[in-house]
Amino acid sequence: MPRFDVLTLFDSYFEPLRTQGICRRAFDSGAMQLKTWNPRGYATDTHHTVDDRPYGGGPGMVMLAEPLEQTLAAAQAARREVGLAPAPVVLFTPTGAALTQQHVKQWAASAGAVLVCGRYEGVDQRFIDRNVSVEISLGDYVLSGGEIAAMVLLDAVARLLPGVLGCAESASQDSFSDGLLDCPHYTRPPEHAGMAVPEPLLSGDHARIARWRRDRMLALTQTRRPELIVILRQQGRLSKRDEDALSNLD
Ligand SMILES: C[S@@+](CC[C@H](N)C(=O)[O-])C[C@H]1O[C@@H](n2cnc3c(N)ncnc32)[C@H](O)[C@@H]1O
Repeated sequence: MPRFDVLTLFDSYFEPLRTQGICRRAFDSGAMQLKTWNPRGYATDTHHTVDDRPYGGGPGMVMLAEPLEQTLAAAQAARREVGLAPAPVVLFTPTGAALTQQHVKQWAASAGAVLVCGRYEGVDQRFIDRNVSVEISLGDYVLSGGEIAAMVLLDAVARLLPGVLGCAESASQDSFSDGLLDCPHYTRPPEHAGMAVPEPLLSGDHARIARWRRDRMLALTQTRRPELIVILRQQGRLSKRDEDALSNLD
C-alpha cells in the first residue's frame, strides 16, 4: 500500500482529493495513504519564512533549503515510525522528466514517495542536490506550483490500486496500460444525430469486438503517436495480427 508524504505550502489543495471520487475511495479503503507537511511549520524564525530573494538578482522568490530539509526529515521520521524505509523524494519541476504511465505503475507497486511541491521561482538547488531522487514534469508549460502535479500523480496511482476502481478491468484497458492509446467508446442510443455505433460493437460476438477494439487502438496510436508503435515493435510486443492490421492502414 503506497503512502505519499507531500511537502506543500498549500495543504488545502489536497482536500478535494480526500473528499471526492476515486482518490477518496483509495484513501477510505486504506489502499493509499496521504499526509501533507507544510514547511512553514518547520521555519524557525518568528515570521515562519520559507522563501527569499534569488542570489544574482532577478524576479521572484526561491524556496529556502533549510525549512524544506527540516520538513523532509520529519516526514521520513514519521515513515520510519510506522516501519517504512526512507522514501524516494520526487520534486515537481518543468525541468524534470515527463510523467508517464510507467512511472505511475512503479509508484503504485511501491511503498510510495515524498512529493515536493515547488512554488515561486522554484527550490534552492542545494536542497535538490542533497535530497531529490527524481524530478518530474507534467509537460512543457509552467504551473504556479507543484500541487496540481502532485494531485495528478496521486489520482493516476489511485486508479491502479487493487479494489479502487469499480471495474478492475478499466485501468488495464486504459491508454498506455499496454503501450497503445485507448479505442473510441460508445453508449446508447445506437444512433445519435444520424451517426450509428460501429456494427461490430453491437454484434454480441466477443472475439470480433476485441479485434475491432484492438484495431482501433492500433490505428489511433499509429496516427497520433507513431513513436509508441515504434517502441512496441522494438520490444517485440506487436503480434503478427497487429502488424497485419497496421499494414492494412497504409
Ligand atoms: C512558477 S513554477 C517555477 C518555474 C521555474 N522557474 C521554471 O521556469 O522552470 C513554480 C513551481 O511550480 C511547479 N511546476 C510548474 N510547472 C510545472 C510542470 N510543468 N510540471 C511539474 N511542476 C511544475 C514546480 O514545483 C515549480 O517549482
